[in-house]
Amino acid sequence: MTPIFQKVAIIGAGAMGRGIAQIAAQAGSQVWLYDTQPEAVAKARDAVSKQWDKLQEKGRLTAEAVAGHKSRLQEAAHMEDLAGCDLVVEAIVEKLDIKKSLFSALEKVLDPSAVLVTNTSSLSVTAIAAGLQRPEQFAGYHFFNPVPLMKVVEVIAGLKTNSAICQRLSDFARQMGHTPVQALDTPGFIVNHAGRGYSTEALRIVSEGIADFATIDRILRDQVGFKLGPFELFDLTALDVSHPVIEAIYHQYYEEPRYRPNVITAQRLAAGVVGKKVGEGFYKYVDGVAQVPAEPPTPVIEKIPPVWVSPRAARRMELLQLLKDLGANIETGASPSPEALTLVAPLGFDVTTVAVVERLDPARTVGIDMLFQDSATRRRVLATNPATRSDMRDAAHALFARDGKAVSVIRDSGGFVTQRVVATIVNIASDICQQRICSPQDLDTAVTLGLAYPMGPLAMGDRLGPDSILEVLFNMQTVYGDMRYRPSPWLRRRGAIGLSLMHTEA
Ligand code: NAI
Repeated sequence: MTPIFQKVAIIGAGAMGRGIAQIAAQAGSQVWLYDTQPEAVAKARDAVSKQWDKLQEKGRLTAEAVAGHKSRLQEAAHMEDLAGCDLVVEAIVEKLDIKKSLFSALEKVLDPSAVLVTNTSSLSVTAIAAGLQRPEQFAGYHFFNPVPLMKVVEVIAGLKTNSAICQRLSDFARQMGHTPVQALDTPGFIVNHAGRGYSTEALRIVSEGIADFATIDRILRDQVGFKLGPFELFDLTALDVSHPVIEAIYHQYYEEPRYRPNVITAQRLAAGVVGKKVGEGFYKYVDGVAQVPAEPPTPVIEKIPPVWVSPRAARRMELLQLLKDLGANIETGASPSPEALTLVAPLGFDVTTVAVVERLDPARTVGIDMLFQDSATRRRVLATNPATRSDMRDAAHALFARDGKAVSVIRDSGGFVTQRVVATIVNIASDICQQRICSPQDLDTAVTLGLAYPMGPLAMGDRLGPDSILEVLFNMQTVYGDMRYRPSPWLRRRGAIGLSLMHTEA
């Protein structure tokens, strides 16, 4: 296989540069590493060689392949050594002026047909290209850390980028074993933009006192299938990295409420409580292991009262079947008896509002999140309202834990934890499609590979039903009166035909 770019220069031999150098050499390209710190180049070359040795030990690469890869990875002492390259990938410090002057200098050295790309994750590709002689030969090529394992790359077209360049970069990404996704030059591109929903909504839930961060992590792992809860993720990424990204995207979108940062992370960052690397973030770490607070125990109840289910409950038939399976004494009257535990299952509305609107006794009313099918989750989530009696809360907790499934009880909120976070993720993803930043397929691919979500946001929206997601958002907008929950037009219009379909409109 002849690589599409045969001579590749990598500028900046840090964490990203060395990863890109590794996969480019593996694709058969001749690779030159260049850095203003010459020792960085030698260190990077050494690190990549060790990676290949390890792969050989594990039997994933032959000795012959490793020798070939090593021979193709070279050090460049001067920028002039890069003159014959047909692709230059920049992975230096994230500063606009420094990147701009680097590319201006490179243009003078390279052949006019050479393609120049930046690995920036937060700067505008168009802004970096401004002032270049050949902005049409320039694009974004955004890899993720660690590059050899994160097998997705965003190919970003700036305002003046020639689309044929993006196609060549996509084809070359495939030769390097990566999946390319194409995006317009917009803040956060696809992955860092789509990722806004998860952590920011989780922060809002904590700041409203609905549940603590450990409970939120448990709920999102067990109900949706996220590998890491949002606060575990914050601890791993560290707030000195993630909080500035949250702020940058918010300001770049001119204070769009959907991306609003939260004082919680600002304060923790100021205090230096940034994550696992310093031994304390949302969790404390002892010998690198998170100290997770114990779950509240299941209450022991002698006699569980009869249960009455609101006729307007989401997935009502499923909920009734579940109660039957749990051995509940189910009331079938038009209204609950005076001793009945009263169950509601709202989408987007809070339990308090439902109790008032349906004229139920709030002291006996408990909510359950039925957005997902019960059988699809490993945890049930109940919510009280401010008037719920503790005996009714405990009875509901004990009843839903009868089959051994985990149960969390949270305070009342418009939308439960999962509803809020999932609806926000689907809504932001829909809006990325609405803005034509990328295709629906590329969105789901980028998020699944770049953020390791259990499925793409649009596929998730389709699986749960766009109507349910819309109901959550409309009702939350009513409860909170906040523009951040307004549904994207894409979600509103696509509900009937599916979110993840390729659009056919011209
Ligand atoms: P790093 O700090 O590990 O490496 C940067 C390297 O560039 C250093 O070796 C430095 O000596 C060199 N350098 C700085 N200025 C230079 C110049 N003018 N000319 C030549 N070499 C120069 O940084 P890292 O993490 O590899 O990031 C590099 C770029 O990749 C940044 O733009 C960053 O935003 C982007 N990026 C980083 C990701 C990450 O997770 N670390 C993910 C995706 C993109």
